[in-house]
This record gives sequence, structure tokens and C-alpha cells, in this order.
Amino acid sequence: MDPELGSNIVELGMATGATVSPDGFVTIGIKLTIGGCPLRSQIKKDVETRIASHPGVREVVVDWGEMTSEERSEVMLKARWNARQQAPDTAVPATTRVVAIASGKGGVGKSSVTVNLAAAIADLGYTVGILDADIWGFSVPRMMGVSGRLAGGKSAEGKGHIVPHEKAVGRGIVKVVSTGLLVEDEGTALMWRGLMLTKAVEQFLRDVAWGDLDYLLIDMPPGTGDVQMGLARMLPRTDLVIITTPAQAAQKVAIRAADMARRSFLRVAGVIENMSWFECDHGERYELFGAGGGRALAEEIGVELLGQVPLEPALAAGGDSGEPVSLQGTGPAAEALRAIAQRIVTETVPPVAMAGCSARLLESVEAILGPKPASPALAPASPEPEPEPEPVVPQV
Ligand SMILES: Nc1ncnc2c1ncn2[C@@H]1O[C@H](COP(=O)(O)OP(=O)(O)OP(=O)(O)O)[C@@H](O)[C@H]1O
Ligand SMILES: [Mg+2]
Repeated sequence: MDPELGSNIVELGMATGATVSPDGFVTIGIKLTIGGCPLRSQIKKDVETRIASHPGVREVVVDWGEMTSEERSEVMLKARWNARQQAPDTAVPATTRVVAIASGKGGVGKSSVTVNLAAAIADLGYTVGILDADIWGFSVPRMMGVSGRLAGGKSAEGKGHIVPHEKAVGRGIVKVVSTGLLVEDEGTALMWRGLMLTKAVEQFLRDVAWGDLDYLLIDMPPGTGDVQMGLARMLPRTDLVIITTPAQAAQKVAIRAADMARRSFLRVAGVIENMSWFECDHGERYELFGAGGGRALAEEIGVELLGQVPLEPALAAGGDSGEPVSLQGTGPAAEALRAIAQRIVTETVPPVAMAGCSARLLESVEAILGPKPASPALAPASPEPEPEPEPVVPQV
């Protein structure tokens, strides 16, 4: 997926070819919209991780090219077209980076990490949505300190939608949607079957008026399965961050989550190790759950270890009181979480900056094409009949 255009690079015509040698060396040709595209390294990493996951591949080399201005306008037309086609499926803006926090097994700290990262990223000045995809084990509302039933509203076209709860957090905003905000009280059990869980997540993606959103963090339910598959179908541009504990046994289970991601073509963006150690008042570290699981997992699936979060009572207390420790906390867990948030926005999953290459071009094309058609039925059946755009001159 082109990280900015949200469409797949083969369909966009950016992938020019692939050669595979009998001894497992693969060369992939990719033409960038602009040679110096700042997302080049991310595209490279995505292509390499996906191709390398196929059995028998020993090395992946990307052979770069640059598009002519004609090719570039054609790509932008297709990207715009795809964006329009996909629009009815989700209400998540095309410019939102989507990060799902997943794990192989339960209780490793997915929800704690999700709310703490959301708070820390918001504090950097971003608008961050949290989708609590743990439909019946929801814990985001309490951890984030939001309560009260979600309200409904109507769009300008008269379509009903759910309005997320909004909370000012540091220098930014956090928006929250959870089934915990739909039931009468926290104690209400939701005994739903797999299919209904997937439907609920689909509805949260399709019918929530998210509005402006730089990031959408998705707190996944424990384990792998229906919800992840549904997510892959609805939002194939989702990046997955896998949480694990330091125990080697936990790592084995976490690999299954990574495998599942690969099979549904989601990108694994990194690993976070949680509950890494406990540091006592004298500064001594106790590795209560063993050591090395996070790094071993990251190496095994070929991604970065984004950070290690120690065990700290303040983190659990912050979850209970609805004040994420990453916001004001001074301890090592708060610092680790803030450092991970920083790394996510600068390196691992940077925001779609409108000053970037493709996104900026996309804006120009959008201006030329005019407003989006009111209904997909009015739109032509293929990208070709779109009006001829002026050649778009890159400004970067
Ligand atoms: N680093 C930490 N230090 C102290 N307590 C922690 C830490 N991480 C998580 N916890 C606590 O461990 C418990 C489980 O964490 P959490 O609910 O975030 O896990 P989860 O993976 O979302 O669980 P589930 O699979 O049930 O959704 C919570 O009580 C939380 O406060
Ligand atoms: Mg949870």
C-alpha cells in the first residue's frame, strides 16, 4: 500500500515488475511519484517484509525508478478514484494512519499500551482516535477516563452516525468509541458471537463520524481471529503493533499473531515488550517474567523492537483512575511509553504530512477534479472517463 495514497502500488502502476532467480533472489521494480519521496524508506521496508515472508526468498532488492509527469498524473487519478470507491466502506479519513495493537494472548497490556500511546501521541499535538475493538472485554473507557452513552447524529446527507466521545489530552485530542459506551453500565455482559463482533467493529469503522484524525489506534481483543480478518478487509492499510511479555513462551504465541497478520496482508510495524522488569526503590531490576522475548520476537518476524515498558504500579493505577501514566507520569514506564509514541510518529508510522510528495499531489488533483460525486452510482465505471487533469507539477 502506498502509505499516502492508501491504494496498492501494483494497482497504481508503481510496481513495474518482479524477477525471481532460482536461488531465491527477488528484484522488485518500483517507480516513485517523485525520486526523493520521503516515504521511500517505508515503501522499501513494506515491500521487503512482505516479499521476504514468502518461503524460499533469500534476498529482496528494490530497483527504484521515477515517474514521468504523465505517469504521475495517471497514478494520481487512479489513487483519487480508488479513494472515492473505497469511501463508503469506512468513515476513517484516507489521511489517517491506522495502528492496531494486538497480541497472541490476553492480559499482556494491549489496552494499557493503547490508551497510553494515544495519550502520549495526542500530547504531541495530534488528534488520535481509539477504537476499542475488544467488543465484550472493553476496557478503554475506564482507562481513558471517559464515560456516558455515545450520542447519535446525522450527516449533511441525512445518514445516521455515531459521535465519538472527545477529550482534550495535553496538546491534542483523543476521540473514543467503545461498546463500553453503548451499554447501560460497565457490568453489562455482551455475549456476542464471532460474526457479531466483526459486525460491531465494521460499524465502528463505517458509521462513526471520526472527523479529523491523524491516528486511529485500535485496541484488539485477545488472540487472533475474526476481528483481525474483518479489520484486514475493511482497512487493509492498517499497521499492526504486537505486544508481548519477555517470557520466551509468550513469544511463541505472539508469533501466531504476526503469522495471522501476514496471511491477511497487514503490515507488522513493530513489537513492544511490556512488563519487562520491575525496578525496586533501591534501583535494582527484577526480571519477573524472564527476559529477551520482545527482541527475539522482533528478530524472528523481521521488525523493530519499538521499546520495553517496565512493570510499574503507577501504570495500573493510571488505568484504574482514567489518567494514563504516559501523560504526566515521571517513572520509567511513562518515559518508555512516551519514547515509543515519539518513535511511532517520527519513524515507524509517521503521520501523513500534507507537505509530503504523493499527498500534496493528491490535493492538487482533487482541486482539479472538483467535489466528490454525491453517489457512487453517478460515477463512471472505470478511471479512464475522468476529466483530463492538468499535468501536476511536484512542489517538493
Ligand atoms: N507495565 C505494566 N505495569 C503494571 N501493570 C500493568 C502493566 N501493563 C499492564 N498492566 C496491568 O495488567 C493488567 C492487564 O493489562 P491490559 O488490560 O492492558 O491487558 P490486555 O492485553 O488489554 O488484556 P485483555 O487481553 O484482557 O484485553 C491491567 O490490570 C493493567 O493495569
Ligand atoms: Mg484489553
